[in-house]
Amino acid sequence: MATWDPQQYQRFQKERAQPFFDLVNRLPDGEVKTAADLGCGPGTLTATLTERWPHATVWGVDNSPQMLAKARTLPAQPRLHFVEADIVEWSPPQRLDRIISNAALHWVPEHQAVLQRLVGLLTPHGVLAVQMPNNHAEAAHRILRESTQQEPWRSVLADAEERFTLQTPRWYAQTLHSLGCTVQVWETIYYHLLSGENAVLEWMKGTALRPTLERLGQRLGQDGQTAFLDMYGQKLAQAYPAGPDGTLFPFRRLFFIAQRDEP
Ligand SMILES: C[S@@+](CC[C@H](N)C(=O)[O-])C[C@H]1O[C@@H](n2cnc3c(N)ncnc32)[C@H](O)[C@@H]1O
Repeated sequence: MATWDPQQYQRFQKERAQPFFDLVNRLPDGEVKTAADLGCGPGTLTATLTERWPHATVWGVDNSPQMLAKARTLPAQPRLHFVEADIVEWSPPQRLDRIISNAALHWVPEHQAVLQRLVGLLTPHGVLAVQMPNNHAEAAHRILRESTQQEPWRSVLADAEERFTLQTPRWYAQTLHSLGCTVQVWETIYYHLLSGENAVLEWMKGTALRPTLERLGQRLGQDGQTAFLDMYGQKLAQAYPAGPDGTLFPFRRLFFIAQRDEP
């Protein structure tokens, strides 16, 4: 797994946070004593959950030491705990009333098994709420795929691709229903107006581009990274011209909320 750079990731903090709040705002009320944020990243959003549920103990779980180091700089709260663990291996000390995962589960394979496990961690009527990017048809991703499949990059990057896991909305609805949940699934396209120079490149550097850059660094050093960024950045600048109000970047995201029916 390529490393995360919290500073680069948080350059577009407002835009990246909006789907988290759109997800959490749709969660049912009710008494919440235990909650987890899986793939919590720098923890800023996790910390807001202690306000949303004032009687809850909240765990933020992530397997990136860099992200967790950032999370641990947040003001300490007695009901907020950050844990270094893999999403598919972490066992909470108690069953959970709410499990949130914002922009993280697509990095984890085998969603059938993962969802079965997560639903199994919920209390009766507990809720699993997930948001994942579904933007791979967008030009930024298409150009990245095309670029890495062309020489001189192809042979260097042959085995570098980190795969995203994403099933269809129908699949999530049916799978979660079959796991004994009442389900809502929806998609939203955000039209972000990003500020700064070659803003889409900067966005991609914080997330999907990391595995490519890391592999280029290992095999070709900084010169290889710079050459790739120049080529990719030029293509992105053409695909996403900056306007007077910023650079428009459409971003499609898939959401689901699954409430466990049975004890
Ligand atoms: C795009 S960031 C999202 C961070 C945060 N949820 C947010 O919305 O700001 C994805 C996070 O998922 C974490 N992650 C990815 N795969 C993981 C896994 N298998 N176990 C734990 N964390 C994982 C990464 O380390 C990263 O911090």
